[in-house]
Amino acid sequence: MYTLIKWEKEGPIGILTINSPDTLNALNSQVLKELDACIDDVLKDESIGALILTGEGKAFVAGADIKEMLPLDAKEGEEWGANGSRIFRKIETLPIPVIAAVNGFALGGGNELAMACDIRLASERAKFGQPEVGLGITPGFAGTQRLPRLIGPAAAKELIYTGKIIGAQEAKELGLVSRVVAPEELMDAAKELAGAIVKNSWNAVALSKKAINDGLQLEIEDALALEAKIFGECFLSPEQKEGMGAFVEKRPAQFNHTRRKE
Ligand code: COA
Repeated sequence: MYTLIKWEKEGPIGILTINSPDTLNALNSQVLKELDACIDDVLKDESIGALILTGEGKAFVAGADIKEMLPLDAKEGEEWGANGSRIFRKIETLPIPVIAAVNGFALGGGNELAMACDIRLASERAKFGQPEVGLGITPGFAGTQRLPRLIGPAAAKELIYTGKIIGAQEAKELGLVSRVVAPEELMDAAKELAGAIVKNSWNAVALSKKAINDGLQLEIEDALALEAKIFGECFLSPEQKEGMGAFVEKRPAQFNHTRRKE
């Protein structure tokens, strides 16, 4: 069904691998289309409680496809950027946690894809950067927006204005990634993290994601009101009764995992 991405499921954990290693998993129209379709499938499959995103070969994603972008005019360029941003936003707002397992180059659109995920784990071999200004363009899949939100405007401006490529350790120091692991341990670390998350109430994890993501865009008073509303919503779920009931009865919680409905 997919030709440029690989889709696997290990129990409740979905693993989406960008699988176009000859071009370092560069995001061309076809890869973007398949990524978009796969995210729609993830949304429909209520048995998935966490998603891992990674890349085949030596790159996570080496950026949007430069050859495909070369002939674009202004209108096509705007549409290209808006389309990538729309797909990445869909990933960011998925009602399940998404972990980027950054195995290699995460440049331009690759770094932007990783930033649309909730948590980034990096291989010691990973490299990060927004090299677009060297190509005569700005970051176009939300890099100018997510990078400063993630690491602060000064560090984001330094990376974007210089286009420099940094290693995994520096990315960790900047707060771009949570953890750096040996290359051979990357997928196990991502699966372990996903496994630790899916043991909990999926509804509560999804609501926590929404509270964090939406709350960060609001003034503090509005953000606190949003949190209170979301907190209240938890009490509609069977998982709240089970989680708290299990604590009171001194037994492990037995969640019947259900995906939160919008
Ligand atoms: N778009 C299109 N093709 C790309 C690509 C991209 N973003 N990144 C890599 N490729 C292709 C190369 O053109 C090459 O294909 P070819 O063999 O047909 O020429 C293939 O992937 C392998 O890349 P190559 O440059 O030979 O590998 P390398 O190990 O020498 O260098 C990089 C790796 C990542 C440093 C280098 O490929 C690079 O700088 N890529 C572009 C990064 C970038 O600017 N991204 C932002 C885009 S907006």
